[in-house]
Amino acid sequence: MKRRQTIALTAALCAGLLAMPATAQQKLKVGLMLPYTGTFAALGNAIENGFKLYVQEQGGKIGGREIEYFRVDDESDPAKATDNVGKLINRDKVDVVVGTVHSGVVMAMAKVARDSNTLLIVPNAGANALTGPMCAPNIFRSSFSNWQSAYAAGVVAAERGHKTAASITWKYAAGDEMASAFKEGFAKGGGKVVKELNLPFPGVEFQALLTEIASLKPDATFAFFAGGGAVKFVKDYAAAGLMKSVPLYGPGFLTDGTLEAQGAAAQGVLTTLHYADDLPNAKDKSFRLGYAKTYKLQPDVYAAQGYDAAQLLGAGLSGVNGDVSRRADMIKAMEAAKIDSPRGAFTLSKAHNPVHDIYLRKVEGNSNKYQKVAVKALADPATGCKM
Ligand code: BEZ
Repeated sequence: MKRRQTIALTAALCAGLLAMPATAQQKLKVGLMLPYTGTFAALGNAIENGFKLYVQEQGGKIGGREIEYFRVDDESDPAKATDNVGKLINRDKVDVVVGTVHSGVVMAMAKVARDSNTLLIVPNAGANALTGPMCAPNIFRSSFSNWQSAYAAGVVAAERGHKTAASITWKYAAGDEMASAFKEGFAKGGGKVVKELNLPFPGVEFQALLTEIASLKPDATFAFFAGGGAVKFVKDYAAAGLMKSVPLYGPGFLTDGTLEAQGAAAQGVLTTLHYADDLPNAKDKSFRLGYAKTYKLQPDVYAAQGYDAAQLLGAGLSGVNGDVSRRADMIKAMEAAKIDSPRGAFTLSKAHNPVHDIYLRKVEGNSNKYQKVAVKALADPATGCKM
């Protein structure tokens, strides 16, 4: 009896394998194009850790496929982006590209992805155009648009009674888009941005600009910096004695993954983001525990976005039994996915961008503490997306 059952089981397994095309039995090639050096290095590493954590939690396979990783350090350099993504697509022949952090780099990647019809999942870079005029069936984002996180900061600053603000950021797509979205949210609540300051990416010579803010005396400052640049900016802002006289606001990138290095300087800073360090949901608790256990590090928003990129890919693969040649069905499965994210469950807009709550957070100790939902279920306007 036992022997007959074993034979039947083996036959069923063989039939299942035969039903899968040969390619679906091979390892899925995932190309990670991320910054592993420079001011965004920690962000790239956290994204990769988050992605691999999800795969590890699924027993090393998603949608029935084992994964083989290929990595390229994009150095957050837009000038090298086309060549770098070409290495993954043409040399390594990856099935999917996951990347990147920097908005300028992602725009070059998106062009190549569109031209070569490569599946691209973006785990950070917020360039509005990616899910606007550049939107495409094969391009998905597991993170945010620049507009989403900074618009909410403007809404909050106005709600808190500020009437004037200065903005300060790096001069590149993400900086420009975040400053403009803050201005929009702030204006909606009656506020006015009186000065827009910037410096070239990834510069950290903030002193002259901080002196200008001190002499302008706005009610508040809005700043977008991230990674190493954010650490230096927050410390310099506090050292200039501005924290009390001109309260600092920003999208959460200003204080995410940076608090140990920012220390006392960051205490009390209010930011808006789709993640916080103590969200009241079970998924986040298990994600944080798993991440801390695996990497001996606390996760941040970048780790969560990497984790969600793997979940999104997993949803697509499960929809086609691991067979990526069924591209149209895979895309349908990704579009329909409800991602059980550490940020709270989310779905994608028609333009393939997360629709998610934006939280107000306050720095306390080494934590971005959840205060409230600043804007509920915020969807990027996706202006110009024709899909
Ligand atoms: C960006 O370039 O889109 C970006 C980089 C770091 C944090 C957030 C956005």
